[in-house]
Amino acid sequence: MSNAVISVRDVSMDFNMTKEKVDNLKEYFIKLVKQQLRFEKFTAVSHVSFDVLRGEVFGIVGLNGSGKSTMLKIISGILKPTLGSVEVKGTISPLIELGAGFDPELTARENVFLNGSVLGFPRSLIKEKYKEIIDFAELHEFQDVAIKNFSSGMYARLGFSIATLVRPDILIVDEILSVGDFLFQRKCEERIRDMMSGGTTVILVTHDIDQIQRLCSRVAWLEKGKLRELGATAQICPKYIAAGSEGN
Ligand SMILES: Nc1ncnc2c1ncn2[C@@H]1O[C@H](COP(=O)(O)OP(=O)(O)O)[C@@H](O)[C@H]1O
Ligand SMILES: [Mg+2]
Repeated sequence: MSNAVISVRDVSMDFNMTKEKVDNLKEYFIKLVKQQLRFEKFTAVSHVSFDVLRGEVFGIVGLNGSGKSTMLKIISGILKPTLGSVEVKGTISPLIELGAGFDPELTARENVFLNGSVLGFPRSLIKEKYKEIIDFAELHEFQDVAIKNFSSGMYARLGFSIATLVRPDILIVDEILSVGDFLFQRKCEERIRDMMSGGTTVILVTHDIDQIQRLCSRVAWLEKGKLRELGATAQICPKYIAAGSEGN
């Protein structure tokens, strides 16, 4: 498709997991050198293809372990797929694991600068936008507190606030919106809508199927690493909900 900003082509991801029980690292290396370790291949994503179009909010749904986060990591370039290819046009702001890119020992203020630089923002920009970041995250009173003391909601607020500071071409949001409280979720949704109107493409993964229905135009449904369905939200979500209630 011509206006695809992300093209996922026949992507598979295998993880190698040792079958042996090894008590320590020394034993592991001895067994490794003697080639006594047996590996078991686990396919987390299997022959998945889809396009994400410029400016759309694209949802990925599926049960736990269906390969959603693995897929997002491949799109973000954090993981290299075993097979297939991903083509991405533009800058990506990945919000994948809660607290990734944060140092728990540092304060919120320090983490804004740390995480901002991880995301590639110039220090001068972070300085200029610092107040806005803290305001959005509603962390005025906690700016100088080590974030190891934060709740998961506070982490999520800070992470989202930093990642959306500069409008990226592509925003990837994995589950983090579901940890904040209701009001914050609405605020994030508003910001996502702003970004959409500014042309940002969003990939959204959440357990909150209502949120998928409110925000996404199209949805990919992953099941055990395979693409079970792909299409308009209005078509896919009812099927997904029905499958869930049947217990499959
Ligand atoms: N680094 C890894 N090593 C081994 N297995 C992994 C790794 N990352 C994910 N998996 C496995 O791949 C499957 C898909 O995981 P994930 O992509 O996190 O699913 P989801 O985000 O849909 O819950 C799970 O069975 C998970 O245990
Ligand atoms: Mg996940």
